[in-house]
Amino acid sequence: MKKIIFSAVFSALFGALSLPVLAADAGVVLDKVAIDLTDKAALQDGARTFANYCMGCHSAKFQRYERLANDLAIPEDLMLENLVFTGAKIGDHMKIGMTEADAKVWFGAAPPDLTLVARVRGTDWLYSYLRSFYEDPSRPWGVNNRVFPNVGMPNVLTDLQGRQVLGCKQVPIVQDGKKQVDPLTGTPLTHEACDQLVVLPNSGSQSEAEFDETVKNLVTFLAYSANPVKLQSQRIGTYVLLFLAFFFVFAYLLKREYWKDVH
Ligand code: HEC
Repeated sequence: MKKIIFSAVFSALFGALSLPVLAADAGVVLDKVAIDLTDKAALQDGARTFANYCMGCHSAKFQRYERLANDLAIPEDLMLENLVFTGAKIGDHMKIGMTEADAKVWFGAAPPDLTLVARVRGTDWLYSYLRSFYEDPSRPWGVNNRVFPNVGMPNVLTDLQGRQVLGCKQVPIVQDGKKQVDPLTGTPLTHEACDQLVVLPNSGSQSEAEFDETVKNLVTFLAYSANPVKLQSQRIGTYVLLFLAFFFVFAYLLKREYWKDVH
């Protein structure tokens, strides 16, 4: 009986923990991204992209402009000039003008608030999602998404990325997780695969590498916004552990002193 209760509690707890992972679509392979929350330039670039390309539809309403300016070392006047387009004041939350009811009618689904999205979806998911839109004339916005099939969001970054379509291209041959190379020349072996995401040449203002960088910075910003005190709590955590180690010595000496005469 005990065992059954234990396993029920365990699976309930564990199930709850793994929910966000399940929420990420099963079946698609996500591209990995290594973000650096200490990189202020990346965060500033991400914040700029977010304000310019996302805040037409998505809010970040648990975040204030002022906090952002302080954390990302953006001077207040530059912040108001370049990142605040709604006439908001520096102390305001990052809200948007569109109402949820209107949005539902226009897009079928209301664009969710993105302050915490990096915690729900994870950074790899966001990085892959934003780079996986492709043209699909059967959809209302003319685009579909590999990571989020039949998504209600248009491809807002297409000016930068260019027109991405499903097509054929040379991809590396992978065996047992390793890219295969020609044993004589050392050049990577490839084969033609279809149903791949391909960007039409010169259709966007950024190269593939530049676009990946833009999205990476945007995801870094979203990760920061989902947990603005992460770096601080890690630093304080180190001090707390050091203090506990230091305190242990005195606690132990005191214990020895108390128990000295007991035996
Ligand atoms: C024109 C409006 C519009 C713009 C601009 C826009 N989005 Fe969206 N977005 C949507 C809609 C609508 C949805 C909901 C899609 C659905 O559920 O099918 C969505 C969904 C999302 C989701 C999925 C959220 C979830 O967990 O389900 C993410 C992440 C996202 N958007 C990120 C962004 C980012 C980052 C930008 C800026 C580069 C952006 N969006 C710009 C309309 C927009």
